[in-house]
Amino acid sequence: MSNGFVARSLDEVRFWSRIMKEHSLFITLGLRCEDTQLINEAQQFFRIFEQIESQSHAFTLKTDPRQITQFNAEVYNAVSHIWVYKRKLLGLILHCKLPGANLFPLLIDHISREANYFRNRLSELNQGQLEPIPDAIIDENVFFLRIMADHAKFIGHLLDPSERKLVEQAQEFSNDFDQLLFQAIDLDSMRPQSQTSPLLSQFLDQNRVSVKSLRDFKKTARDLIEACRIKSIIHPLLADHVFREAERFLEIIDMFERALTGKKSVSKC
Ligand SMILES: [Fe+2]
Ligand SMILES: [Fe+2]
Repeated sequence: MSNGFVARSLDEVRFWSRIMKEHSLFITLGLRCEDTQLINEAQQFFRIFEQIESQSHAFTLKTDPRQITQFNAEVYNAVSHIWVYKRKLLGLILHCKLPGANLFPLLIDHISREANYFRNRLSELNQGQLEPIPDAIIDENVFFLRIMADHAKFIGHLLDPSERKLVEQAQEFSNDFDQLLFQAIDLDSMRPQSQTSPLLSQFLDQNRVSVKSLRDFKKTARDLIEACRIKSIIHPLLADHVFREAERFLEIIDMFERALTGKKSVSKC
């Protein structure tokens, strides 16, 4: 039991602390050079999450669960702070206080939602209160489908407009994921009656097909950007970042599928 707690905690912290670290870098790159105070804050968060990430890799499955509980609480604190910083930034952008900064409001809202998700995961882990599987299936999908829909929109807007075919493909993914998100919200409002095994299983199957194809599209885009074969203002690390988030969603879908079919015991949720 405690070993499961350590494994789940390390898995979440290793994945999301790297994500938070990269968000700090993307913010730094998008700010104007005169925004020195905001840049300093972003760079400070970069260092904090870099340290958390390396600390999480220094722990092992044999680490005392009490030490992990303490670590999770510290990470929770850092994530709360970066969440506040991101929301402050969103306020500044929406009040037109940073004219010319290259940061879409939806991008800042998006990365603050990811921070909030990470914070909730840490709190659930430390309190030992994981959601029942049928609830987790709907909640995780509502969260990640929106994240995927946003990614498709970001890619579509950061590619050079002359990359007409790729922009069109990104737009199609955006529409596809908006539809899937609405379906998920419908299933959500029909709970608990909608939480039958056949409906949840079909829900996961359908989402998996689209996430796989978006994941492959992101992988192609990442490789093309790294090889300088397409025109865009997408940082290669951002391309890899959104690819990894799609991979994460796929792993979560597979884990739910195993839990539903009872093939394997749930190792995390
Ligand atoms: Fe992210
Ligand atoms: Fe994201």
